[in-house]
Amino acid sequence: MPTLHWVGKDKVVNHHHDVPFRLLNKEYTFTANQGTPANSTANRIIHGDNLEALKSLLPEFEGKVNCIYIDPPYNTGNEGWVYNDAVNDPKIKKWLGQVVGKEGEDLSRHDKWLCMMYPRLKMLHRLLAKNGVLFLHLNDDELHYAKVLLDEIFGRDSYINEICVKMKLTAGASGGGEDKRLKKNIENILIYTRDRTGKGGFERFNDVYDEEDLFEIIDEMESEGKSWKYTSVLLDKGDFVEERVVLDGAGEEIKIKKYKSIKRTTVNALVRKGIDREVAYIENFNWIFSDTNAQTSIRTRIMDEFVTLADDELLVAEYVPRSGRDKGTTVQHYYISPTIRRVIWLKDTAVKRGQRIVKLEKTGTYWDGFPLNNLTKEGGIQFPSGKKPILLIEKILRLATSKNSIILDSFAGSGTTAHAVLKLNAEDGGNRRFILCEMMDYAEDTTSERVRRAISGYSEGAKIVTGTGGGFDYYTVGAALFKDDKNLNEDVGEKAIREYVAYTESIPAASKCGADSPVSRYALGTSATVLWLFYYERERVTTLNLDFLASLNIKALLNNGGKRPEHFVIYADKCALDADFLIKHGITFKRIPRDITRF
Ligand SMILES: C[S@@+](CC[C@H](N)C(=O)[O-])C[C@H]1O[C@@H](n2cnc3c(N)ncnc32)[C@H](O)[C@@H]1O
Repeated sequence: MPTLHWVGKDKVVNHHHDVPFRLLNKEYTFTANQGTPANSTANRIIHGDNLEALKSLLPEFEGKVNCIYIDPPYNTGNEGWVYNDAVNDPKIKKWLGQVVGKEGEDLSRHDKWLCMMYPRLKMLHRLLAKNGVLFLHLNDDELHYAKVLLDEIFGRDSYINEICVKMKLTAGASGGGEDKRLKKNIENILIYTRDRTGKGGFERFNDVYDEEDLFEIIDEMESEGKSWKYTSVLLDKGDFVEERVVLDGAGEEIKIKKYKSIKRTTVNALVRKGIDREVAYIENFNWIFSDTNAQTSIRTRIMDEFVTLADDELLVAEYVPRSGRDKGTTVQHYYISPTIRRVIWLKDTAVKRGQRIVKLEKTGTYWDGFPLNNLTKEGGIQFPSGKKPILLIEKILRLATSKNSIILDSFAGSGTTAHAVLKLNAEDGGNRRFILCEMMDYAEDTTSERVRRAISGYSEGAKIVTGTGGGFDYYTVGAALFKDDKNLNEDVGEKAIREYVAYTESIPAASKCGADSPVSRYALGTSATVLWLFYYERERVTTLNLDFLASLNIKALLNNGGKRPEHFVIYADKCALDADFLIKHGITFKRIPRDITRF
């Protein structure tokens, strides 16, 4: 398989092993105020370099992350990013702390980027679940190198797709990499999985539909003399239950019809049933209104009349404005349901042109219509550049996550990924969790602040955005578990040390023991065949000897329906038992790496 070479590659291929394992310090927990909707709370924002943060996540999250979205520096030469990894090589040390320069001025700028990305992608690969998916967002500055790099780290077979995103520029706006050549108006997202071959590996994305303006398509086809047919999956309006008339705040009449047993169907099926007028499309959403001014009063009135609505129930509100701008002109239909996201009506003579009619197509690899400019304030927080549209990330989450997924963004910036996770949870009742890493000091007052606002509610211009609910824990990257002399940093505490040893021994969560284990206060874990013991006392030297073995309450295992372990893995400072004894009794002794000369 072709591979890529660059200056410094040989120094970074194993760098992820050299990165110190650091503890994560929880600084505070933020939770939504009472009254906000329920949403996920076991979320994390980590302030620190993602290389160290990702390593710290391994014990808890290795192989468990379902979706990774990353948007690293594109290496355009204008971002002012700095290569800072402590790689121990004189040539690379010269790069440290220097801003990566522009094309033509900095001959090693691509080498630096690849050196920065390699160990991080290695770590992300380990964190990804077998069927999990990584989305790497770039533009053409580094895209093609990144593809080869990912082929090397993830495997060519693990490549899924590349998405081209048309980043829409607003009229008169600069940006999008305009220069003397062609205007750059697409960005790229490479998609890889951990494993798409074996059992439990990646199989398929969720169905996600793009919308197109049906009137435009129909006009186009009619102008070409073609007949047209509608084939998307649609929703039957269900069985009619009752009709009521309510008044909105301005005294306007709204006729409301209630239907039950709504279900998916196809246009063909509808046509066969003789229904070729109003049809609706499913996905989870609460309210559909085409007139934002009318929303609040109509919604309030309807909610008063129909306090609860079951998942398979639908209200169709017909509203004929008798005053104001739309007086007597349009009949507006509002579709209200706990489960319907969008409404399509087809061949409905009551619907005037200009109202939105959409056609649904399964999404492909070309995504259109995401704004690139005017994003600085999106999400209610100022972030000067590089912010991604929340709808873009939401679409990725719709494709690649389920309601309980864990989502990781290790180049968090303004926190769009967290916002999208919370927003989608609020829309579909999911419990997706996010982990963000951001190294800059704005991790607290920008990244976290945005997430706090998303949770509690905020205003965007004149618009008030309701809070999603939920919460997160804020962490900093703390002390290293090992000192430079490779001995344990005992200041981190026994609990953290035990957890790390349990991780390096690959003891499954269900097999771990606490210090209250009846077998021994030093028991670390027990499986059907192995007992792990961590015989550690901060203030004294421990010795594996017959007395220690005699202190173990093996009967406690037997009483719990377990068997006598065939194998013992015992950590201590010293071992007083000879090799033959250890072999005979299936004992593996491991020395605790610490300086015991002080005792
Ligand atoms: C392009 S921005 C991401 C923007 C984000 N997608 C959003 O929508 O706001 C890249 C972010 O990655 C951060 N970053 C770069 N290198 C990092 C590292 N080694 N560890 C953690 N964060 C890093 C930068 O500080 C910057 O905030």
